[in-house]
Amino acid sequence: MGERENQLKYIEKCREIIAGKSREHGRALTYCVTTFGCQMNARDSEKLRGILEEIGFEKGGEEDSDLVLFNTCTVRDNADRKVYGRLGRLKEIKRNHPGMIIGVCGCMTQEKTAAAKVKDSYPFVDIIFGTHNVYALAQLLYEHLSKGERVISLLDEAKEIVESLPTDRKYGFKSGVNISYGCNNFCTYCIVPYVRGRERSRRASDILNEVKALAADGVMEIMLLGQNVNSYGQDFIKAGDSGVMSFPELLKRVSQVEGIERVRFMTSHPKDLSDELIDVIAENEKICSHVHLPLQSGSSRVLADMNRHYDKESYLALVKKLRDRIEDVAITTDIIVGYPGETEEDLEDTLDVIRQAGFENAFTFQYSKRTGTPAAARQDQIPQDVVTRRFDKVLKLVQDTAADRAKRLTGRVLKVLADEKNEKQEGYISGKLDNGFTVHFKGDENLIGKIVNVRLDECHGFYYMGSIAVN
Ligand code: 5AD
Ligand code: SF4
Repeated sequence: MGERENQLKYIEKCREIIAGKSREHGRALTYCVTTFGCQMNARDSEKLRGILEEIGFEKGGEEDSDLVLFNTCTVRDNADRKVYGRLGRLKEIKRNHPGMIIGVCGCMTQEKTAAAKVKDSYPFVDIIFGTHNVYALAQLLYEHLSKGERVISLLDEAKEIVESLPTDRKYGFKSGVNISYGCNNFCTYCIVPYVRGRERSRRASDILNEVKALAADGVMEIMLLGQNVNSYGQDFIKAGDSGVMSFPELLKRVSQVEGIERVRFMTSHPKDLSDELIDVIAENEKICSHVHLPLQSGSSRVLADMNRHYDKESYLALVKKLRDRIEDVAITTDIIVGYPGETEEDLEDTLDVIRQAGFENAFTFQYSKRTGTPAAARQDQIPQDVVTRRFDKVLKLVQDTAADRAKRLTGRVLKVLADEKNEKQEGYISGKLDNGFTVHFKGDENLIGKIVNVRLDECHGFYYMGSIAVN
C-alpha cells in the first residue's frame, strides 16, 4: 500500500471515532489550524485543514475548538516567542475544556531545543510532529485518539513526497502549489535547511496535474512555491535524471493550463536567476511581472560571509536586467540588518543598494541568532541598540523608496484580481495587481475571484484606491 492509501485509511478510522464523539456531544466537533510564518506553511496548513475536514471536523476558533493545531515557524526568534505565548494561553483554555486536543507541528518542532521545550514545558500538548510528516496528521491523531496518550513523531528527514491528499483552500480562486521542498543553500544565518531538509523537487507531471485539478476546481491564480524556485529540478539532475523540466519551462507550462489566468512564484535566489526565466516572464502575459529577490545585505563582504554567492555589483546588474527586460516589473526583497560583524560601512552599502534598486517592497528583519547555524556561533554579534538604530534607518528608506515606486503607477488602468470584500469600507472590494500591490475599489461582491480593469486613482504608499475602468 502506498503512503497516500495508508493515510486515507487513517482518515477513515478517525472519521468513525469523530462521528461517534459528535453523536455523544450532540454537535459537530470543531478544529482550528493557526499558521505562523511563510507561504510554505500556509500551504501546509491547507493540507492539514483538508485532512481535518475529511475526518469530519468543522471550522472553529482558536479559543473554543475541540482540536487546535499550531503550524509553527522558527526562522526568527520572535516567531518562536509568539508560539510560546499562544501555547501559554491555550493551557488556560484547556483547563476549562478538558477534551481539547492540542497539536504543534511545523518548523519549530524540527529544531531540537525548541522541540524539547514544547515537550517538557507544555505537557498539555497532545500531538507533536514536524515538517516532514505533515501528510501523516490522520495517523498521528488516530494514535492519540485510540491510545489516549501523547504522540510525538519527529523525523530527521523526509521519506517521500506524498501526493494528492485532501486540501482545504483558503481562497476558491487562487492557490499555492509546492514545486520543491527544503533548501540546499545553507546561508550562514538561516535555519531553514536544518528544519526543512535538503531540496526535493516534485515531478513536473505531478505539479501540472495538481494545477489542472485546481483549475478544474475554479482556481485561476497559482503561486508556485519553493525556497529557491530557480534551482528546481537540480536534485533530479544530480541523481542522473536527464530530460528534467527547467523552472522557466515549468512556469510556462503552468500558465498554459486551461483556466489559469495568473501565475506567481517565490522565492528566487539571485545566484540562480537565469536569462531564460527573464525571457519567459517578459513574454508571458499570464506570468506576473513580480520577482521576489532577497538581497539580505548590500555589502559584498557580508554577502560572501553569508554564503550567498553574489555580490553588490552582480545583484544590481541583475536588477537592471530585470527592469530593462520586463515591462513594469516589481522587484521585492528581504533584508537582514545586524548580521554578525556588520559595520557602518556595510550598512551604507545596503542603503545604497536600496536607493539604486528602488524596490517596490522590502521585508526588513533584525538578524536573529538561530541555534546550530554558523552565524550564531560568531563572537562579533551586534549589540541590540545598534541593530535597532540601523534597522530604523533601513526601514525608513525602504518605505520612502517603495512609496516613490508605487506612485509611478498612479493614473494607469491595470488588471486586478478581486480578492475579498473590504471590511472597512462598505461597498468596496479589494484585490491584487499583477505586481502584488493591493487596490481597493468600489464594486460588487460578485466580482470576487475575477480579473477586473481598475484605474489607480490614488496611491497611499502600500496600496491604491481605484475605480473600475470602463473598457
Ligand atoms: N535572522 C533574520 N532574518 C532571517 N531570515 C532568515 N533567517 C534569518 C535570521 N536568522 C530572513 C531572510 C529570508 C527571510 C525569509 O527571512 O531575509 O529571506
Ligand atoms: Fe534560508 Fe538561504 Fe535557503 Fe533562503 S536560500 S531558505 S535564506 S538557506
